[in-house]
This record gives sequence, C-alpha cells and structure tokens, in this order.
Amino acid sequence: MSNFIPVFEPLLNGNEKKYLEDCIDSGWLGSNGPYIKKLEENFSKYCNQQYGSCVTNGSAALDVTLRAMKELYKWEDYSEIIIPTFNIISAAQSCIYNKLKPIFVDAEPITWNIDTNRIEEVITNRTKAIIVVHIYGLPSDMNPIIEIAKKYNLKIIEDAAQAHGQTYNGKKCGSFSEAATFSFFTNKHISCGEGGIVLTSSKNLLDKINYYKNLCFFEEKFIHTDLGWNLRMSNLQAAVAYAQLEKIDKTIEIKKRIGAKYQELLKNIPAKLSCPKTNYAHNHYWIFGIVLNDDVKFNAKTARQKLLDNNIETRPFFYPMHKQPIFKKLGILDNINRPVSEKLYEKGFYIPTGLNLTDEKLEYISDKIKQLF
Ligand SMILES: Cc1ncc(COP(=O)(O)O)c(C=O)c1O
Repeated sequence: MSNFIPVFEPLLNGNEKKYLEDCIDSGWLGSNGPYIKKLEENFSKYCNQQYGSCVTNGSAALDVTLRAMKELYKWEDYSEIIIPTFNIISAAQSCIYNKLKPIFVDAEPITWNIDTNRIEEVITNRTKAIIVVHIYGLPSDMNPIIEIAKKYNLKIIEDAAQAHGQTYNGKKCGSFSEAATFSFFTNKHISCGEGGIVLTSSKNLLDKINYYKNLCFFEEKFIHTDLGWNLRMSNLQAAVAYAQLEKIDKTIEIKKRIGAKYQELLKNIPAKLSCPKTNYAHNHYWIFGIVLNDDVKFNAKTARQKLLDNNIETRPFFYPMHKQPIFKKLGILDNINRPVSEKLYEKGFYIPTGLNLTDEKLEYISDKIKQLF
C-alpha cells in the first residue's frame, strides 16, 4: 500500500543516531551505561520529580511500582486499588500479578479521564491507592483526586504513559504523586521502541524498585533472599530516549498543531472530538479521538474499516476493563455497568497523528472522515 497512512510515525531527527554511535563506539550497551543515568536524572528533573528508574516498558514500570509499594506500605493481599476502566490492561494486570484487586471506575464523558465524582462511591476499608491514568493527552482532574486521597489516606500513582510533558494547572504530570510511571513505546512523545521509567519522590521506594527490577541482587552478589525480575533498560534504548527528551517541546508542538488542524477540519461532523481544553490543561493530542454521535447509524468498527479501505490506519478506543474476558475468566469481576466507557468503546476510535504528517495528509484524512457521513 504505497500511500498508506499509519496511525503513528516517530520523528528521529535529533541526536538519536549520534548517541547510538556513541554507545557502540564506547562499548556501553547494557543497563550500567551512562545514558541510563542521564535519562533518569534529566527526565525526573524535567517532570519535577526527585528520582527516576528506567525499566523495560510502561507495563513493567507499573508492575514493579505496585510490588514496591505493597511491600513498603505493608498492604495485605487483595487490598483494593482504584483505576479507570477506560484504560489499557497494564494497571489492572499489575494489580493482579501483585495480588491486589483492581476496582474499576467509569470515564467522564467529555475528557474520557476517570470520573472523579464516582471515586468515593467505590472506596472501602480495603482501598489503598488510586492509579490515575492521564488518558489520550489530557490530564485527569487532579485536585479532587488529591482531596479524596487525603480524606481516605490513599496513595496516588500516576500512569503518565500518554502524558510526557503535559501539565495540570501548570504543574507537570508525573509530579503529583509519590510514584509515576511512563512508557517510551514507539508512539509516545518520547520513544525508544520499547522502554519505560518510574519517577518517585521517595528514596525508599526507589531503592525497592531498583531491587525488584534487578533480580533482587543485594549486598552479596548472587545470593538472593527474594525473587525479582530483570526489568533493566539498555544503554542503547536510553540513548534514543534521551535524544528525544532533548526535543520534547518540539514534539508536543507538532502534536498540538495536528490536533488544532483536525479540530478545525472536523468541527461539523456528527461526533465528539478529543476535548481541546479544560480549565486546567490544553490537550497534547497524544492521540486524536472521534466518538460518533448516538444518531449515527454505524459504529466505530465500520468507520475504521472504511478508512482502512482508503489507506488510513486507525485504532479502536480502549475496551473497558470491567468487560475483559480474561478478568471474567479469573472471576475477579463484580457485576457492574460503566456505561460511559462502554459507549466510548462502541463509538470511539482514533486517527493518525504521526509526527511526519503534512497538512495535505491531514486534509486527505479529514475529507475521508467527512465522507463517512
Ligand atoms: C496508559 C498506559 N499505561 C501503560 C502502558 C503500557 O506501556 P508499555 O506498552 O510500554 O508497556 C501504555 C501503553 O500504551 C499506556 O497507554
């Protein structure tokens, strides 16, 4: 397909190649190389957090963070962790791997983030934490979440995998909580193919994370009193991610330009578009989403197939966690409805926001979307 427009394409036009050559010339390939330290120090500084620990991906970042917190704060098995149901599986599966129970809260219909009005109703005396996920480039509404966390003595963990450089009332996402996780997967604002990082304000938590991600090596090498994982990132990956950190402001600017252009071109279609701004943030458009109006006679799946027939790749919205077949099979689901998230899945999809997209391509994509109606 020669004119195929992928849903995302990275832009590798900074120091990526230079830093990779540096790794090869110096022989530093593994996780003890200098780019790991540079990335940890500079990304945590950029996000106004104290410490960083690079890991293999954003899912692993959640796994190791929950394990470290559970141990540090002595959470009992099957303590409850509140997460948005409109989400990727990573947070929920991290809970399950760590013998914690995920509790699913519905999305708010305009921002698609966790509905902060619905959090208190699921809190019990077993609740220990809220995992806040900043969805699709717009931050969650942190002030009410912080208030609830204070009132019930809960920890907050931010999953900022889609929100590098995003701010809430001018303060960086990833700096609101004791621990925040990020992904550096290909389609993220900072990418090294696969990768991730945990940021934290707690030295105790950092030490635990570094311990579990590194096979639980302790003082005496090769003698272990715990089982961990090898979740270490390589110097090669860190070199690429570090080069991308250097130009993150430019990346965000490109994303915002793409988002603004789609808002203008698609303003009259019978659908809700990604929310451009709230009173606490402007959208970074990690993705650009479209949710078909109720009176549109076809669903997202049909729209996506028609766009694919025109060489335009799209992605479905998240399939809500409280409907996941695997969680049904595991018997961890209470019988709940989360209607906003269910509708978002049925009616929603997202369209290309690759960093190389020209205005001409954005116009082509928008024309094909308008033709759907
Ligand atoms: C919100 C969120 N959390 C976690 C992850 C998992 O990150 P990774 O793919 O690096 O494991 C992703 C990936 O897209 C994500 O979007």
